[in-house]
Amino acid sequence: MKIEEVKSTSKAQRIASHSHVKGLGLDENGYAIQTAAGLVGQESAREAAGIIVELIKSKKMAGRAVLLAGPPGTGKTAIALAIAQELGTKVPFCPMVGSEVYSSEIKKTEVLMENFRRAIGLRIKETKEVYDGEVTELTPVETENPMGGYGKTVSHVIIGLKTSKGTKQLKLDPSIYESLQKEKVEVGDVIYIEANSGAVKRQGRSDSFATEFDLEAEEYVPLPKGDVHKKKEVIQDVTLHDLDIANARPQGGQDIMSMMGQLMKPKKTEITDKLRKEINKVVNKYIDQGIAELVPGVLFIDEVHMLDIECFTYLHRALESTIAPIVIFATNRGKCTIKGTDDIVAPHGMPLDLLDRIMIIRTLPYRSEEMAQILRIRSQTESIQIDDDSLQMLANIGTKSTLRYAVQLLTPGNIMAHINGKECIGKDEVEEMNQLFFDAKSSAKHLAQHEDKYMK
Ligand SMILES: Nc1ncnc2c1ncn2[C@@H]1O[C@H](COP(=O)(O)OP(=O)(O)OP(=O)(O)O)[C@@H](O)[C@H]1O
Ligand SMILES: [Mg+2]
Repeated sequence: MKIEEVKSTSKAQRIASHSHVKGLGLDENGYAIQTAAGLVGQESAREAAGIIVELIKSKKMAGRAVLLAGPPGTGKTAIALAIAQELGTKVPFCPMVGSEVYSSEIKKTEVLMENFRRAIGLRIKETKEVYDGEVTELTPVETENPMGGYGKTVSHVIIGLKTSKGTKQLKLDPSIYESLQKEKVEVGDVIYIEANSGAVKRQGRSDSFATEFDLEAEEYVPLPKGDVHKKKEVIQDVTLHDLDIANARPQGGQDIMSMMGQLMKPKKTEITDKLRKEINKVVNKYIDQGIAELVPGVLFIDEVHMLDIECFTYLHRALESTIAPIVIFATNRGKCTIKGTDDIVAPHGMPLDLLDRIMIIRTLPYRSEEMAQILRIRSQTESIQIDDDSLQMLANIGTKSTLRYAVQLLTPGNIMAHINGKECIGKDEVEEMNQLFFDAKSSAKHLAQHEDKYMK
């Protein structure tokens, strides 16, 4: 197992608090099942989200936008992540939070553009001439250094490759020897070498070498079938951002794909507008030739009210461009001032002209039974035991404050139960926690009552 091999640039999702969400939980007709796939209630929002998923899958949605709007803790982020689950891994889904655009190093629009391109996928089909097989021999042939001196250089490499059909010996260029070393190829490994670019890929250890008791985490693969030298259809799913990064610092190889193999850690400042234009040109050419297919994915911008007017204008324009993803916004704000303006008040803190082209999905506050169900799911995911009465009590607290506050009381409640020598959270613990911690509303009330005691 290689830990250092960092190839994909897709972002890790913020899970933890949403790890119980496995999908939208719809039946085959697209109706929401009350409790399914980790989601509870909120039926119409989930059904609407289901339609969005269908539209995305049938590629009818590119360049459009959806807004999830509703009070805090009503499952907007959860539903967006459920959409990602429904779309599967082949459709790119790039989550970000509005405030991510503020950085002292990178321009706001640059951050937006990067995330835009992370959300646009490209499926590239290529028939490649490859040599593949199990390595039976690996001998570098050295000669005297032609520049004089005492050193020796590798003039070529002799490599033997075995498949189920036969064995072939190849004489390869020294540059390939370097790639072989980089991939740490040894005799007994299954590899393939691309004939055009010379890129080497180690697929794993041949399974004839598998031993019963193996301590090393090694992947065993079967002996390749057919001839050593063959044409192979390679399908690769990349995002435009992957291409940007791969080409920002090209290292050997002429075509895009060979550069893909050498993705380095992203360094953000190096991608220029010019480079992106070039890449778009190549991508368009590939699409015209039928080599590649565009897969518009989803850009999810949570807490969209954190964006300012500049970002909104930029987004508006970017949505019009020919290669655009589907953008899903989420906000819990009602009418408020748009950031970056002095006095333009707008619904959800978004400019009206942008709002105008958006489809809005509402999320509604939960009833206490639904809260109890969600709390039960959460306590199961966190392996916390709680009895039914206490769960109902916590749900009632949730309806008065927010769902999130109630969910957050679970963990401290569990600790308290352990201190009290119990396995299971009871009414006492819930009550005690509710007294120890304040939810936002009671805290605000407290502040209003004791205004004089605080500094201004
Ligand atoms: N219908 C639901 N079923 C199961 N879990 C839910 C549901 N709705 C919300 N949750 C869970 O409740 C918690 C709060 O929900 P979430 O973070 O999605 O709210 P939100 O609408 O994004 O709130 P905010 O506006 O504050 O961002 C999360 O842990 C989420 O997974
Ligand atoms: Mg949220």
